[in-house]
Amino acid sequence: MALLKIARMGNPVLRKKTRELTASEIRSEPIQKLIQDMRETMLDIGGIGLAAPQVHEALKLAIIEVPDSSPRYPKYGGAEDLGFTVFINPKIRVLDAKEQGFWEGCLSVPGLRGLVYRPRKIEVTYLDERGKSQKLEAEGFVATVVQHELDHLEGVLYVDRIQDRTKLAFIEEYERYWLPTEDSDVGELPD
Ligand code: NI
Repeated sequence: MALLKIARMGNPVLRKKTRELTASEIRSEPIQKLIQDMRETMLDIGGIGLAAPQVHEALKLAIIEVPDSSPRYPKYGGAEDLGFTVFINPKIRVLDAKEQGFWEGCLSVPGLRGLVYRPRKIEVTYLDERGKSQKLEAEGFVATVVQHELDHLEGVLYVDRIQDRTKLAFIEEYERYWLPTEDSDVGELPD
């Protein structure tokens, strides 16, 4: 296993078109190792999601693990968690287009938070790490995490989706001026 280097905003690999993986590729040793290394890297940094382009691989592959304790804002379904999940060749369908706002962060955009609105409920079809077809319904916090990670597979960063650019802040200023409270109608999604 190995810790992988994270590509930061400005690195063209984050904007490249990614390619799908075949079933036999998924089961191959290099891809299985990549998945393990990505997991180790994500755990080491304390992140909740990581997409292959962020570790310099232009592949349709992302991992997510939302521990129970991570969501801090119950009004957006904060009790939800998601065990370690590997999304390969994912396709998203919006189930509820009503948007919810989260202050998002990204390992590829260190030191910043930005307010992004996304649909509140989605369905994802994808292949898992064994190449098996899977379907996941997600809402609230987990829905935003999934959309953020799968955006990486399209070369999209959360900063592209910020509508109001006055809501892009360094973490220190974010914590001073914008930190959501229990009464806020937005939540927080860390790196
Ligand atoms: Ni990200």
